[in-house]
Amino acid sequence: MPTKTIGVLTSGGDSPGMNAALRAVVRTGIFHGNKIFGIKQGYEGMIDGDIIELTLSSVSNIIKYGGTSILTARCEDFFTKEGRSKAYDNLKKLGIDSLIVIGGDGSFRGLHELINEFDIQGIGVPGTIDNDLYGTDYTIGFDTAVNTALEAIDKIRDTATSHSRLFIVEVMGRDSGYIGLYTGISGGAEEILIPETDSDIENLCNRLDAGHRRGKKSSIIVVSEGDEAGNAFDIKKKIETLVDWDIRISVLGHQQRGGSPTAFDRVLASRLGYEAILAVMNGENEKMIGLGHNTIDLTPLEETWTRKKGIDESYIKMAEILAT
Ligand code: F6P
Repeated sequence: MPTKTIGVLTSGGDSPGMNAALRAVVRTGIFHGNKIFGIKQGYEGMIDGDIIELTLSSVSNIIKYGGTSILTARCEDFFTKEGRSKAYDNLKKLGIDSLIVIGGDGSFRGLHELINEFDIQGIGVPGTIDNDLYGTDYTIGFDTAVNTALEAIDKIRDTATSHSRLFIVEVMGRDSGYIGLYTGISGGAEEILIPETDSDIENLCNRLDAGHRRGKKSSIIVVSEGDEAGNAFDIKKKIETLVDWDIRISVLGHQQRGGSPTAFDRVLASRLGYEAILAVMNGENEKMIGLGHNTIDLTPLEETWTRKKGIDESYIKMAEILAT
């Protein structure tokens, strides 16, 4: 296989496991005789020319860390033709002919534009806690984020039970309910509100009160920040006069984006980073490397955001029955 000069970047919101993916890209790339450059702060570093060559030891001992050692950014300038043109010039100066972008849909849209305007090859690696990309069962960082949120829910349950309270716990997920769904199921939440399903507030209140009457000592509603009924504060306003519970709110926020990646995320990131290099060397272009039924899949970049990764609504029904 012909060797390449490959630029790698992490872009958009960071996610635990990005470092493991970077390590896999660098180590696999060098193993196969490629030259690997790290582009700092996502597309910002591409535009500013903040690019360094990475060696085997550049990625030593990073597998266990959250965040991203080459930094990340959400870069507005890259969504202008001028910004992309500047970025491409910087890639050419270093002879970079291929890119591996570790990020979410915004990052993939940027890569798609660049590939269509200039002579550059690109492969996406799904790195976002939201798990909202079509073409992969799991994105890097999702499992860690869920485990972080779950740890918080378990603690909240202790105090909720001691005080006989109802907690509304808000988790991340602007447009996607995956974190809410998995956290809610694993934490035994009484109610799960996610953007993919309609929230019936009246029924929810009836169920919560029925639980109270039956002797439940606590209840937890997990709500995704992007739920169509609103965030935790909106939900509290909607239900406080309708339920017989003392209500508290907990917004988990950015802690879900940090922390040491779980073994699952490290393995996933290692596999996807490793396969991204093979895809580049095999001449694949404008595709995302993903995992479907535990098998490596390549999906056209554009489909990763134009096609919707659905949520299996039977999970919600199951959660309701299990939390009765
Ligand atoms: O896309 C990942 C994510 O954490 C979303 O869940 C959240 O809505 C958003 O990023 C927050 O973005 P920022 O860190 O820019 O506030």
